[in-house]
This record gives sequence, C-alpha cells and structure tokens, in this order.
Amino acid sequence: MSDPRLSRLLERLPQLLLKSEAGDLEYYGRDWTRRWTPAPLAIALPSTTQEVQEVVRWAVTEGVAIVPSGGRTGLSGGAVAANGELVISFERMNRVLGFDSVDRILTVQAGLALEALQRAAIGHELIYPVDFAARGSCSIGGNIATNAGGIRVIRYGNTREWIAGLKVVTGTGELLDLNRGLIKNSSGYDLRHLLVGAEGTLGLVVEASVRLTDPPPASNVMVFAVSAMDDLMQVFAACRRKLKLSAFEFFTDRALEHVVAHGAQDPFEQVSPFYLIAEFDVADEAQQADALEVFEQCFGNGWVNDGVISQSSAQAASLWRLRESITESLAARKPYKNDISVRISAIPAFMQAMRTIFEREYPHYDVVWFGHIGDGNLHINVLKDDATTDAMFIVECERVTRLLAQTLAEFGGSISAEHGIGLVKKGYLLGTRSAAEIAVMRGIKQVLDPHGILNPGKVFDGAGVGSRE
Ligand code: MLT
Ligand code: ZN
Repeated sequence: MSDPRLSRLLERLPQLLLKSEAGDLEYYGRDWTRRWTPAPLAIALPSTTQEVQEVVRWAVTEGVAIVPSGGRTGLSGGAVAANGELVISFERMNRVLGFDSVDRILTVQAGLALEALQRAAIGHELIYPVDFAARGSCSIGGNIATNAGGIRVIRYGNTREWIAGLKVVTGTGELLDLNRGLIKNSSGYDLRHLLVGAEGTLGLVVEASVRLTDPPPASNVMVFAVSAMDDLMQVFAACRRKLKLSAFEFFTDRALEHVVAHGAQDPFEQVSPFYLIAEFDVADEAQQADALEVFEQCFGNGWVNDGVISQSSAQAASLWRLRESITESLAARKPYKNDISVRISAIPAFMQAMRTIFEREYPHYDVVWFGHIGDGNLHINVLKDDATTDAMFIVECERVTRLLAQTLAEFGGSISAEHGIGLVKKGYLLGTRSAAEIAVMRGIKQVLDPHGILNPGKVFDGAGVGSRE
C-alpha cells in the first residue's frame, strides 16, 4: 500500500483486508450502469461491525469519502466510486446470524445475497417475499439502500415493509441499533425507515432483521397479448377483481424481440404491441375456475387478442423468462434507463403522454418499455443506434429525461420508483421532491453524516468530501 492514508488505516486495523490492485479498483468501483470510469482509492473488506466503525473513524480523520458496496447490481450509479473514495465491500459480512421462530425474524449481515436469504427463509418453512431477477448477485444491504421493489410488490410491498430492525454505522462511526424487531414502537422518529432508501448516504447498514412470512399457495401464470394501450388497464382491473394476484407485469413487442433473441420462447404466433403477465393463486378449484373466467372475459371483451395459461411449473418458468430476462437481454447494449412511477390510476394518461414524447424525441432509437404496471412502475430502456457516440447518446437521453421529469411532475409521479437516484437521476430530483423536502433531506444528512463522507454526490450534491459543488 503506497498511499500513506492506507498505511495509517492498516496501522489502526492490521487485520483488515484491503485490496488496491487495478483489477480490484475496476471491479468494485462500478455498478451495472457502466457509465463512469471506476477510480476508488482502495477496497476495504471488513469482516466485523467493529472494523466498519473503525474504517469510518479513519475516513473522518483522513477526509476520505466512503462508497458502500453490496452486489453492485444497482442501475443508478449509487455504488459507483469514481473519485478516489474508499469502497467498503460487505461481501465478507454475508452470514445469517440467527432466526427467531416466535417473531419469525431472520437476522443477517448486510452482504448476504438476496437469494441466499430467500433460501435461509425456506429452511425455516417460511419465505422472504421481496424478489427480482438480480436475486443471485444483489445483497440485502443494497436492497435496503434502494428500498428495492421487484416483481411481487403488488402483493408484498417493497423491502421497507420487511425490515424489522437495522444496525447502522453513522458517518461518525457510531453504531445505531434501530427498532430491534419490535412490531409496535411508537417512541418518536422511526430512524430505521430513514435508512431504508437512503442509498448509503446516511449510514452503513451492517445488519438487518427481516420479517418472514408463510409460503404462498400454488400459483399459475398467464400471459396476454394486447393490441390497444387502453385495454391494458381493463385486463388489470378484471384480474384484480377476481384473482389473488402476486404479480402483474407488462412488456412490449420490442422487449419480446430482445428476450427471444436471448433464448426465451415466444408463446405466440403473431406479434402484438403489448403483453401482460399475471401470476395468481390457484389454491383450489374455485380459484382455478376464476382464472379461466377472467381469461375468457378478457377475450370476450376484445381486450386481448391472444393468451396462454401455464399448465406446469416448467411452463410458468418459461413464461416468466419473457419478463425476467429483459434486463439481461439488453445489458450488452448499455441502455439508458428510466424507472418511473405514477399512481396506478394515472397509468393510461401518463403512458399516452410518454408515448407522445418518445415518438417525437427518439425516432431513431429502440425504446423498450416494460415493468411493474400493477404498481404504477414503468421501465423505459433506450438503446442507441450505431451512428451515435456514447457521449452524444447520454446528452440526448438526458434532454428527453428532463421532458419526462416535467411530465412526471405534472402527474405527481417519481423519477425513480425502485432503482434509486444515485448519480443517474440526481439532476431530476427537484420535480419529484420539492425544494423544501430536499432541504430537509440535506439537514438529516448533516446530522447523521456531519463530515459528508458517506457516499457523497449520490442522491444530491452537497458540501461533502469529494463533492462536485
Ligand atoms: C426490472 O424490473 O427488470 C428492472 O428493475 C428494470 C431494468 O433493468 O431497467
Ligand atoms: Zn423493475
């Protein structure tokens, strides 16, 4: 370690695992956005909470910024380290610490992968229901940082709903033990919820106690092909009225083309502009009959022009692949991602407004729409053409995102539904949040991170270490 600051860190913590090879800086300094060139000072891989606290105290003394790092599957640049920061990777803090069968609470370290957590829950005949395609690589700490949502929010809500307690290291190295698994706790501000979705700017989550729940009954999946945008919500209303939904998702013909090229099986003979995938309980014959009734109703009313109901779990998995592999099928093209939300009732009018903007502003790009339409959350991935440089592409997409942000403000929506603000969306925060709200957020940051060392420049610019202001 040639940097004297790192030598002093190792004097404080001789056992701390530090990495600073070029390949490590590159690997740990970026997330799935791949827009910024990673340039961290080094990577610390603590194995205990005490080590995390000591690293934070060192960072305060040295004036070094910290970027917390989980699975780095983020899509907003929240885990990017491009300015000489120390990355704290939680990959060695990945243990299940305990299970309380009365409270049905699993306590885990922040670096545990979501899929490992889900498996641990199943080991206790329960489930942790938050789920999305990055489950194998993302960590629960990262999920908490962005209040991750995913495909079953319609039934189970976002990560926040499942967090019973958090242990957090603040920007002064203090350890806070928040809520301690209590169901009822009316003792002032619930700081736990401030940390959820704070993108590592208020504290470093080292431990989480998550609630588990009963496994759901058997489910089926149906996919509909839809011609008219207006019919999407008719199908949603019919499904919601009659079925016990656990997911209701949407994608377009553009998305289908990419996933099929990536190996998914197209169940339809004809192309349709829109597709819906619904997952619902089939606990008994009555629920199965309800599903068939809805299926027929959608055809009878002319809302759908084709449809398929899964007949086996293998077929359900194959249908899910149409939706779940969209992100992966587009990744090599480095899409520009919008991740927006409006109230569900505003979806039809908002989609129409967006369509007008995108058709006018992006005539030459491949615009791929998909997302969690049953939660009012749409993803728009824009793919550049060969004639446009990466830099020009970003400039153009940012211009169009400003128009999108204005439309969102008119609809009372959000510029980030579930990916977080990070670096990518911070220029559009005003609009989703008022100036007064942002001022309160800055005040909170000042209290929990007075030296501005925790993930500075993410969510908003501030007076922190390495800030661009
Ligand atoms: C998804 O729901 O598949 C992702 O959150 C969306 C994306 O990759 O843009
Ligand atoms: Zn999503």
